[in-house]
Amino acid sequence: SFQPDYVLRITGETISVACRTRASAVVNETAPGPTVYLRENQTTWVRVYNDLNKDNATIHWHGLSQSVAPYSDGTPQASQWPIREAQHFFDYELRPQIGEAGTYFYHSHVAFQAVSAAGPLIVLEADGEHPYDYDEERMLFFSELYNNTDDTIQDGLTLPYAQFLWSGEAETILVNGNGFPVLPDNETGATLPPQKAQSIGSTSCGPEIIQVEPNKTYRFRAIGGVAMSPFVFAFENHDNLTVIAADAGYTNPASTDYILMGAGQRYDFLLHTKTEEELRNLGKSEFWVPIEPRCPDLNNTFYAVLRYTTPGIHINTTTDISSPPPQSPVHIPYDCQYWLEYTLEPLTPNDFPTADQVTRQVIMTSAQLNTASGSFWTISNHTWNEFNQHEGDTPYNDTSLTHDTPYLVSVYEQGERAIPDFENAVQNYNGWDPELNVYPAEIGEIIDIILVNEPNGVAGGFDTHPWHFHGAHFYDLGSGPGSYNATANEEKLRGYNPIVRDTSLLFKYTEGFEIGAGLDYTSQGWRAWRVRVTDPGIWIIHCHILQHMIMGMQAVWVMGNATEITHGTTPDLVEGYLTYGGNAYGNS
Ligand code: C2O
Ligand code: CU
Repeated sequence: SFQPDYVLRITGETISVACRTRASAVVNETAPGPTVYLRENQTTWVRVYNDLNKDNATIHWHGLSQSVAPYSDGTPQASQWPIREAQHFFDYELRPQIGEAGTYFYHSHVAFQAVSAAGPLIVLEADGEHPYDYDEERMLFFSELYNNTDDTIQDGLTLPYAQFLWSGEAETILVNGNGFPVLPDNETGATLPPQKAQSIGSTSCGPEIIQVEPNKTYRFRAIGGVAMSPFVFAFENHDNLTVIAADAGYTNPASTDYILMGAGQRYDFLLHTKTEEELRNLGKSEFWVPIEPRCPDLNNTFYAVLRYTTPGIHINTTTDISSPPPQSPVHIPYDCQYWLEYTLEPLTPNDFPTADQVTRQVIMTSAQLNTASGSFWTISNHTWNEFNQHEGDTPYNDTSLTHDTPYLVSVYEQGERAIPDFENAVQNYNGWDPELNVYPAEIGEIIDIILVNEPNGVAGGFDTHPWHFHGAHFYDLGSGPGSYNATANEEKLRGYNPIVRDTSLLFKYTEGFEIGAGLDYTSQGWRAWRVRVTDPGIWIIHCHILQHMIMGMQAVWVMGNATEITHGTTPDLVEGYLTYGGNAYGNS
């Protein structure tokens, strides 16, 4: 009988984080959840149980193209029905293709659950050979701790809309689930870290200790599992980092002394550790790893620790890690808009399509919209999410799944009616089908998607948005302030081979920015993607800030026609798959 390769159970637990407790959705009782390993060109089945007692759930395999199993992408109401609460399960079919080896993560795609129901996902090379040499690997899974519960945050952002109760900022950024203690909220001013942190009272709560040995090369896999803020991090006294992969794609080696990442992004980098002699000269064997939110800057520093374990040799450290240092030992630049832009190139040339191959351009504008009926984060003035948007609905535990909002599932279940009107969308609506609230695309198209950061209408201010595309990845054409100018950008791209990735940052730009200057120093900007439409399926695009997603900053792309999307399978098969996964038709 069928045996899944992995079983992941999503449960609600009270977890202990940074010396606090928080009710959270978690995978296999830990946050982050266990690391899942896949191999290129090999099918792995993951059975996911939803053991939450009232909420729906799914798991999304963030960054995997899912080209051979588009119904296993884990987007509720888009690629599948959500897994209903209480002991239902879904069998996910994962088969990474050759070339997909790299660093990913998995997370629930329902509401705010991804803040804790998430874990690392590693795709190993089919032949076990990697292009860069190193001695060992270390994982850096970044996430955030919120004082409010998921329910409070979700309800505040959705029901009733007019209130728009903000989630609050994250209390701290965690590495592999660990961080210095933070005081209960009522004992702090709103923005007083790092004083907010206090000494460690016990060893069960404290910063992540990353253990290394001297004179070795480590491959770090850094995963941006945060809910909200882009962030930077660096290693005290170690400024020799070499980026070797962005998202899951290997890049040419690029040196840097710090890493910037947004929610949903991954970077792999090499760090060569110091020799014993260097450590003795420095007089220490423990080094701070400061982590700071950026763009918007929140004026905080959080920490992990790099600790040398030196077999047989004892080096007294001058670093006291029982509490955070009074100030960060590393200055990390405040500007984040230009870090490695137009610098990273693929390790092996990709099939980057030139401008003359592009079939059309679609503009997707990011803005916060404040209307009489509430506040939304929108894409070109439209919203989409997995639950109904009508006031009075109880979206997170709504298992009736009414079809008020258009989504993928209707392609299978409603036949003709659900086929987007491609011509109308392209000719009259900048690629958007107003009837179904989707962006249709034909297989073989090459589309430039221009993400624009600009306020409009009765709008809120700018923000930095980490944009993520499911399914086919994009060639990242770069970014800049002001308005996008195709001719000028093509000029910049001459002789440069852009990398393919799945998440990149749409910045807000700062003029004369100084730390603490407040939030009104922003101006508009853009990021451009080139997408080769190859894989039929229903793929969503969204800002990876969970708060923005919940407020509607998502859109559905329908790639291919209904026949292509269903891969010629029967409606029964498809419907069973959408409900139970690829290997479990008929269970309930
Ligand atoms: Cu990380 Cu739509 O997901
Ligand atoms: Cu956003």
